[in-house]
Amino acid sequence: MSEQVNKSVNKCAEEYMIQIIGAGAIGCLWLAKLHQSGYPCHIVSRGSAKQPQQPLDFTDLQGQQHQFIISHSHQLLTTSIAEQQSTILVCVKAPQVLTALLDQQQHINTDQVIILMHNGYGCAEEVQQHFPSNPIICATTANASLLNKPLNITHTGLGPSYFGTYQTANKNHPSNINLSEYIAPLQKAMADVYWSESILNKCWLKLIINAAINPLTAINQMTNGQLQAPQYEALIQPLVLEVFSIAEAERIDFELAELQQTVSNVITATAGNYSSMNRDIFYGRETEIEYINGYLIKKAQQHNIATPILSDLYQQIKVLESR
Ligand code: PAF
Repeated sequence: MSEQVNKSVNKCAEEYMIQIIGAGAIGCLWLAKLHQSGYPCHIVSRGSAKQPQQPLDFTDLQGQQHQFIISHSHQLLTTSIAEQQSTILVCVKAPQVLTALLDQQQHINTDQVIILMHNGYGCAEEVQQHFPSNPIICATTANASLLNKPLNITHTGLGPSYFGTYQTANKNHPSNINLSEYIAPLQKAMADVYWSESILNKCWLKLIINAAINPLTAINQMTNGQLQAPQYEALIQPLVLEVFSIAEAERIDFELAELQQTVSNVITATAGNYSSMNRDIFYGRETEIEYINGYLIKKAQQHNIATPILSDLYQQIKVLESR
């Protein structure tokens, strides 16, 4: 790739508008932070976006309240700068990622960068099949945010966010040269945002944390901290071992002791929180179980690894979901 093309990609990447698909807690958090940093952004929701400009109510980590007038609609903007150059940040839950993108497919250029940020694993593979030439970035965040009501959120915890390249089919695409440039606006907007050369490892780590915490807290309708009770610790240890064996078979490197410690640290750090799956079951919504335990069980079957605990929790969540 010539230096000229490389330069033009780098120059434009930072100028691109960010269009966020999904007006949930995390989508609105990025919207608020981008807005605060003065970066052009737009949000696409499935809700009732009757007016193109609406207020977003945002309570920050210090408890200060802000209101922003935001650009909001049901479809991606396809005019002026946004049409050619916007970066798409998808913040819907794993089961909705592909549908949300397919709904907007006619408004997405084949060279637009798509960033996927959600709990669970397996969506990027699906998205790649339908958007084979779009550069795809995978992302994971440990930020916590609460959706109080539509377009009204509270930032409840700051944690690291990692972004990295997911292998796209079209490896020679010019915008693949330096995809890290595309997250510069997100780095300016929020603290603790990193480009990672080992993004699959970071996403797997989050997958393991979610597999350990989410189904148990959802089935028992309790906070993350209640997992510190001995009867749950006795389940989490062998569960992490099951997932560790699957990761090992998939050539994703972890130290078992470190992994057990990380899960325990997250439980302590988020002790007062209800996990996202806990809330999904509580409100009768579809969970991300297919992209957490479901994904892991599929991979385990491919490697002939037994998953008694993962499978039992999967079944219990499916029963709760079906009610
Ligand atoms: O899904 C969630 O709720 C979060 O990812 C985590 C880390 C389990 C904390 O509640």
